[in-house]
Amino acid sequence: MKRYILLAIFLVTAIFSASAQQSYMIDKAVAVFYPKDFQAEKHLPSPVFERELSPVGPLDPSWRIRPEYSQHGGRSVVRITIGEDDDIYGTGEVIGDLRRNGKEVVFWNSDNYGYTKNEGKNLYQSHPWVLGLRKDGSAYGIIADNTWKSSLKSEGNTLTFVSEGPAFRVIVIEGESSKEVLKTLAKLSGTMELPPMWAIGYQQCRYSYYPDTRVKNIVDSLRQERFPADVVWMDIDYMDSFKVFTFNPETFPDPQGLSDHIHARDMKAVYMIDPGIKVEPGYFVYDQGHKNDYFVKKPDGTEFTGSVWPGPCNFPDYTRHEVRSWWSGLTKEFMLKGADGLWNDMNEPSVFDGVDGTMDEDAMHLGGDGYTADSHLRYHNVYGMNMVKASKEGSLLAHPDKRPFVLSRDNFLGGQKYGATWTGDNRSSWDHLKMSIPMTLNLGLSGQPFNGPDLGGFSADAEAELLAHWYATGVYFPFVRNHSEKGTVNQEPWAFGKRIEDICRTAVERRYRLLPYIYTLFREASIDGLPVMRPLFMADEKDLSLRQEQRVYMLGDDLMIIPRWATDPSLPKGDWDIIRFEDKDDEYQAYVALRPGAIVPMANLYQSTEQFKADSLTLLVNPAADGLASGVMYEDAKDGFEYRKGQFAEYAFTASTDAKGVLTVTMKQTGGKADYGRKTLRIAYVYDGKIAYSPWTKGESVSMKTPKEKEFSLARSVR
Ligand code: GLC
Repeated sequence: MKRYILLAIFLVTAIFSASAQQSYMIDKAVAVFYPKDFQAEKHLPSPVFERELSPVGPLDPSWRIRPEYSQHGGRSVVRITIGEDDDIYGTGEVIGDLRRNGKEVVFWNSDNYGYTKNEGKNLYQSHPWVLGLRKDGSAYGIIADNTWKSSLKSEGNTLTFVSEGPAFRVIVIEGESSKEVLKTLAKLSGTMELPPMWAIGYQQCRYSYYPDTRVKNIVDSLRQERFPADVVWMDIDYMDSFKVFTFNPETFPDPQGLSDHIHARDMKAVYMIDPGIKVEPGYFVYDQGHKNDYFVKKPDGTEFTGSVWPGPCNFPDYTRHEVRSWWSGLTKEFMLKGADGLWNDMNEPSVFDGVDGTMDEDAMHLGGDGYTADSHLRYHNVYGMNMVKASKEGSLLAHPDKRPFVLSRDNFLGGQKYGATWTGDNRSSWDHLKMSIPMTLNLGLSGQPFNGPDLGGFSADAEAELLAHWYATGVYFPFVRNHSEKGTVNQEPWAFGKRIEDICRTAVERRYRLLPYIYTLFREASIDGLPVMRPLFMADEKDLSLRQEQRVYMLGDDLMIIPRWATDPSLPKGDWDIIRFEDKDDEYQAYVALRPGAIVPMANLYQSTEQFKADSLTLLVNPAADGLASGVMYEDAKDGFEYRKGQFAEYAFTASTDAKGVLTVTMKQTGGKADYGRKTLRIAYVYDGKIAYSPWTKGESVSMKTPKEKEFSLARSVR
């Protein structure tokens, strides 16, 4: 394998060194552009792609988007002219508007508490990627295949990438729609693997729940309050003096016992592991890392030392295969003590006393597997990505028959292959609630479908109204975890009394009932790379009025989420109907509207995904004008890898309405070889903000007489 990589690098180097700028097609809708004097050893293998790109022919002469290369003051510059009217999106984890025209992003992963540093131009991750949408709905994607410190500026019809590293190659994807472009990105850069179902349930966190009795108390409270939940999180205080892979012997004396307690209540335990290793002779992780020379070095050959939570730390050089294997082994041993999932934090890496809050740019990484030894300036942006890769491997070593779940603060374009993400240290404030929507959407439009913010906000004190609105708006995000900072007021759903708790519970109950649909979206995203949470413009890519809407969002193609606080939003055309989930409206819950022609399956309410069963399904139906509707559902064992051998079931739902107004929905298994038996079905006919149910019917089809006329105007109901 290594030999082939080296050979590939040699060939690419041989072709491109000292040659003029070159461009090729690597697929019929994908072109790659190389600068002259491309230094392959400074860029390849690319961490973005699953395999090295191979040319299939010369550049199509009609190709529209062409980068122009230049050098300015020792920097490599790429200028790209786009259409005057194009709307651009993506660019990763960014604050501000969904539409990125006129914005600037710095690709230099940064611990950015409260998002205030450098005006929020660089957050925790980098995705040198732009998704462009033309007026006619056709789309393109641009990848700057470059890990070096760089930036992107959009001004008028020009995109300018400036890098502190050598000139890099650019890949351009063309497509008939944004979805087509995103699917191609996923084909090239890989997809998120299907997570265990518990990872898409509701999660409760705080910096920090300790001692272990407090953790048990949180889990017990969730169950007593009948608040559906799947995961409780352990932040740094479970460790002994913040030394990773240890437990505090006084406050967490029995991790396995704690895990048993959590599991007995059908929940899972996720533990934080940071990269900084406390410099302390006698601490086994430090001793092993030091003895084997696994830490990142300064140019003078001594270990780079910088302070994080435990005080002075050394940092594993995850560019090296042997270091990643060591890390995976440590992770394995740790997980076997009772962790179900991993939380990798501070992995930009964050260094409290470092220049610009991180490691020195001239610190050295040794690389390997085709990666040459090079400076932190090159490898900084993939520091966390390599760590998550090793953590995921460790999880698989510990539990070969379970799907890994790793949440990482730091990552890079293509990093969805290794872990999920949350958007770091936001604030408990209205503007952060609002900005979490475009931020999560743009991460999804940059290849990372599994992400979300700290629900309720991390820093500053949450307050009752904000928390209620955050739950009501945020339970449809891909990742849903309440997390808050030490020293802030408690932020659990019950922290502000019964009224607020009831609102939060109602919202979370909606998510749990929608699990068959949400899980299906995760399955689809694991195959085609489309985001789970989508911008509204995807409802109709030709409707220019939707291009800037960033309060209303889509969950898949069939559900539109309209936050209650979104006044006068842009809405797609057509007879979308608001689903009436509850008998009584609490005036906080988002409006959830069903696409005309869609069928969305809902399950009964369970308190955790462990208990979840898809045996009784309520089928939300909004027939299109022709009386027809359709939908799909995916089902499997919720964890494990048997699904890869065909142990799953895919179903298609189809609905039609006869001349007498009788609606019939039929369910058929269309894929997979698992047989989960016959379901009990009922139709929930969604109309005019109301809902009418058929009786429960066991079998493959169910019918009901629909209520009379539909006289619905979505815009009127939302106002
Ligand atoms: C960082 C993380 C935050 C965590 C804290 C303590 O600030 O972003 O989520 O609670 O560190 O570990």
